[in-house]
Amino acid sequence: MQSLLNRTQQILPSGSANILARTFIQPIQDRRIYQHPILEIPEKKKVDFTWNGVKLQGYEGEALSSSLIANGQTVFGFHTRDGSPQGIFCANGQCSQCMVVVDGLSKKSCMIPLEEGMNVKYAELTLPKSHESFSTKDIPTKEVDVLIIGGGPSGLSASIELGKQGVDVLCIDDKDRFGGKLVLQTHKFFGSAEECYAGTRGYRIGEILEKEVRKYESVTLKNNSTALAVYSDKTIGILTNGKYELIKPKKLLVATGAREKFLSFPGNTLPGVYGAGAFQTLVNRDLVKCSDKVMIIGGGNVGLIGGYHAIQAGIEVVGLVEALPECGGYKVHEDKLRRLGVPIMTRHTIVEAKGDGKVEQVVIAQLDDNWNIIEGTYQTYDVDTILLAVGLEECREFTDKAKKYGLDVYSAGDAQEIAEASAAMFTGKIAGRKILKSLGKKIQIPEEWEEKAEILKSKPGEVQLEREQFEDNEGFFPVFHCFQDIPCDACTAACSHGNIETGEEGITEIPQFIGEVDDCDGCLRCVSECPGLAVTLVDCNDDPDNPVVTFPYEIWKSDVKVGSKVEVIDDFGATIGRFPVERIIKRGETLLVSVKMPFKYAKSAASVVKKIEKVDPQLIYEKKSPKDSSIVCRCERITAGEIRKVIKDGARDMNQIKIATRAGMGACGSKTCNSVIGRIFREEGIPPEDITPRVMRPLYVEVSMGAFAGLD
Ligand code: FES
Repeated sequence: MQSLLNRTQQILPSGSANILARTFIQPIQDRRIYQHPILEIPEKKKVDFTWNGVKLQGYEGEALSSSLIANGQTVFGFHTRDGSPQGIFCANGQCSQCMVVVDGLSKKSCMIPLEEGMNVKYAELTLPKSHESFSTKDIPTKEVDVLIIGGGPSGLSASIELGKQGVDVLCIDDKDRFGGKLVLQTHKFFGSAEECYAGTRGYRIGEILEKEVRKYESVTLKNNSTALAVYSDKTIGILTNGKYELIKPKKLLVATGAREKFLSFPGNTLPGVYGAGAFQTLVNRDLVKCSDKVMIIGGGNVGLIGGYHAIQAGIEVVGLVEALPECGGYKVHEDKLRRLGVPIMTRHTIVEAKGDGKVEQVVIAQLDDNWNIIEGTYQTYDVDTILLAVGLEECREFTDKAKKYGLDVYSAGDAQEIAEASAAMFTGKIAGRKILKSLGKKIQIPEEWEEKAEILKSKPGEVQLEREQFEDNEGFFPVFHCFQDIPCDACTAACSHGNIETGEEGITEIPQFIGEVDDCDGCLRCVSECPGLAVTLVDCNDDPDNPVVTFPYEIWKSDVKVGSKVEVIDDFGATIGRFPVERIIKRGETLLVSVKMPFKYAKSAASVVKKIEKVDPQLIYEKKSPKDSSIVCRCERITAGEIRKVIKDGARDMNQIKIATRAGMGACGSKTCNSVIGRIFREEGIPPEDITPRVMRPLYVEVSMGAFAGLD
């Protein structure tokens, strides 16, 4: 197998990829998650399907890509240009890398629900079946007052505002359930408890919003429904379970969210290089353990929380790499990983992914202040997965085209500006009210809504390690292991006695206990509801010199037992000692573990953990990385070197690059490579104002031609 794949690193003669596909076999494995500290494992109907002639089982209705990976199949086909293996990257319908042949037709497996008896094969060149007879139907056109594209936090929040006023709304989403990225989030959310469910888990917020929308009869929710294009006659083409229709709305709200950025490095197309959203889709939505060992690239909130989700799913996180001097995500997220023993390597970068047909190793290296790799700092880790969390970009194509054709269009959530889901709920509400006003409804947009949306979008502040603390060993008192201003008031809202307050600046400030001795009744709500798992409660009532400290705990639950000793660590990840567990109670999916320890440790004790064993890298001194061999356009397998050459030859127009190299002409329609090409321009010193952007042309999503003819 090794030699077979190595031989294909050149351009293949036509048809060779088909031969490769017929000879490549991946062992069948059971990669399902059968226990999870937060998620219940639902009963689902099993169905049989075939994969390259082999019978496999999956769950009816789950994404076909998840069924395949749950059976250990990560290579979905071989690229016709270079024969390189390909598999999922985004699991979000954006990158087109997950193509397989289903019952004779090419389909994106991450967007196809599994059905009994499906005949699935590697993506390879196939000739379409010819039909002697077929029938077609007229394409229906439907008028609605408001079409909302995207049923995530912003689209659902706008639907609620519009539904309350009885407006005729069609809200579509291309997934099998509503909630957008909320569906993938098992952690409790930050933000405002009163306004946007801070302290509630993301997937539950999605359920709450959907339930609320369904109360309003004037709102129709349609899932598995993909918007394809905006046309010049102000209609929008949508495809629902294979049926095509045109929607003519009076108002359009684009709530399409964001897509993940790709990164250019050698080996970046190997199966096992996943966007963070794909990883969370597999692990949290579809309960597929797609990895045993992962390296995370990117220290924003997405990467940090992705690492925590991986650990909850029983996946070893070998490390997290961040190019900046500090992680950009919330410190409480970072601290959770550090306390678990995950090395966080700032000022480092990924150099290369290595492997034969899939990811087997990752090479990272340290950066100097000028962003150059410091020679001699290369480290190679054995991993099977690389999770890319290197930023998001707004899905704007529908907005731009609708504006061009004169539609009255609005946008909200990440499609408007990348921010947290809490902010998306607000921008959705505001967009809903703006649309109501434009429809002539007498309705106000509360002035403070814009302000609140801005607060929820605010970036984390400076880290402040000093704070006032409750000094005496009397009664109950909480300790906040939260050292950074972030927009969150879950703990202040949890305290029914009003003993916890943030500062004058409002919910972005670090919380404090403002009560006196005996003001706290030890209800533990602040401990259980803090999304950062950053509040502990000290109980000095029975034994002031040896109080009981209660910690939130969400990982290896069966390892923590009353009477056993657990490792207690401080805010900086250092072990304080091992102390006996006095009591365990359950609040929702969080365990509250009470541990008795000397008072001198009680205020610095931040967490109980079983630390992950640190994986040592192999130190390898490599030659300068061949970065121009990195793939930029995955669909057409165009390298950074090919694009750089055209730029050096004088190209300043993205459309020229497309014609000269074919970068951006593939199935994904340049959604993956556009930002990477922008980066190469920057590397070559070309300012953004000198670059002519690409003309985005419909369709924005691949669709079979028959759909437009209403083919039965
Ligand atoms: S993995 Fe299916 S489109 Fe990206």
